[in-house]
Amino acid sequence: MRCLVTGAAGFIGSHLTENLIVSGHEVIGLDDMSTGRQENLAAVSEHPRFGLVQGSILDATLVDELTAGSDWVFHLAAAVGAFVIRDRPLASLRTNIHGTENVAEAASRHDARLLVASTGEIYGKNATVGLREDADRVIGSPLRSRWTYAEAKATDESLVDGYVRERGLRAVIVRLFNTAGPRQNGRYGMVIPRFVRRALTGRPLTVFGTGDQTRCFCHVLDVIPALVRLVQSDQATGLAVNLGSSQQVSIAQLARMVIAMTSSSSAIEHSSYLDVYGSGDEDMQRPVPDCTLAGQLAGFDATRPLAEIIQSVIADQWSRIATAAAIGT
Ligand SMILES: NC(=O)c1ccc[n+]([C@@H]2O[C@H](COP(=O)([O-])OP(=O)(O)OC[C@H]3O[C@@H](n4cnc5c(N)ncnc54)[C@H](O)[C@@H]3O)[C@@H](O)[C@H]2O)c1
Repeated sequence: MRCLVTGAAGFIGSHLTENLIVSGHEVIGLDDMSTGRQENLAAVSEHPRFGLVQGSILDATLVDELTAGSDWVFHLAAAVGAFVIRDRPLASLRTNIHGTENVAEAASRHDARLLVASTGEIYGKNATVGLREDADRVIGSPLRSRWTYAEAKATDESLVDGYVRERGLRAVIVRLFNTAGPRQNGRYGMVIPRFVRRALTGRPLTVFGTGDQTRCFCHVLDVIPALVRLVQSDQATGLAVNLGSSQQVSIAQLARMVIAMTSSSSAIEHSSYLDVYGSGDEDMQRPVPDCTLAGQLAGFDATRPLAEIIQSVIADQWSRIATAAAIGT
């Protein structure tokens, strides 16, 4: 198949691109390199069936040109990470809303199958353990930076749904819950690489809020095959599908695990949510997905345990530290 991957130089996009190339597909990546890195694509950058276009999903003409002739479009490009959303609210909203509209419009015009990456964040403060796809959204004020990412992604879902219903677009939405693994960047707020980096460099690990809030981390390599199966599934067309693990860990526990696994002398310090979101104590306390639908449609199963995820991030961060040191000398 000929595939377009938006956000190909990012964390999930680069793993997906590698998988598609290994499976014999042709891939064009589109990325503006805002949080993506050329190094993420090192394994495929010289491959004859791969090409990278540096540009933005906000460029509707470019998106249209690249979509023409594509069989599958994976739309992963987005403004991602709490620090990005806090520091660049307007640009983030435009990317996450108008960018997705451009991609959906082009996929519809060229009759390509589309997979759109949404997020488990859209459920907000709904505290049900085992959130099904039809669960209600419980969201704070749209004027709070904490929820604008979720608001934009929810708007994307409605837009895509409109294209499916009115224009016959063959699209599936995936709601990813805390995907982690090598190549994820801690600089923009993602907690595992941020903790690992600080532990390896002997700096304190900052926990926002009490640290009692839990997350369920899923290894990126458990997620990727499901994305490839879902984009081609007729049964999945028009649906939103959760993808994540159901194994909860509190953020305080996670910090202790990272310190133990890196044999670090780092301390744990607490900081207010104000520091990360610019507004008070608003967070998802216990987002746990029900992934029955993904199991049925794509054979999805989150098999890799948290310790394996952390270990893979430690190896990745060590190699980044070594590369930086080598360049510095
Ligand atoms: N990692 C997670 O835990 C998680 C959870 C839920 C949803 N998601 C979604 O998965 C997708 C991939 O996220 P990721 O974790 O790989 O993040 P990432 O930041 O590594 O990847 C996003 C990529 O999009 C690119 N990008 C940003 N704006 C762009 C633009 N205007 N034009 C073209 N490219 C642009 C970035 O440079 C980057 O390479 C995103 O849509 C994100 O919302 C991720």
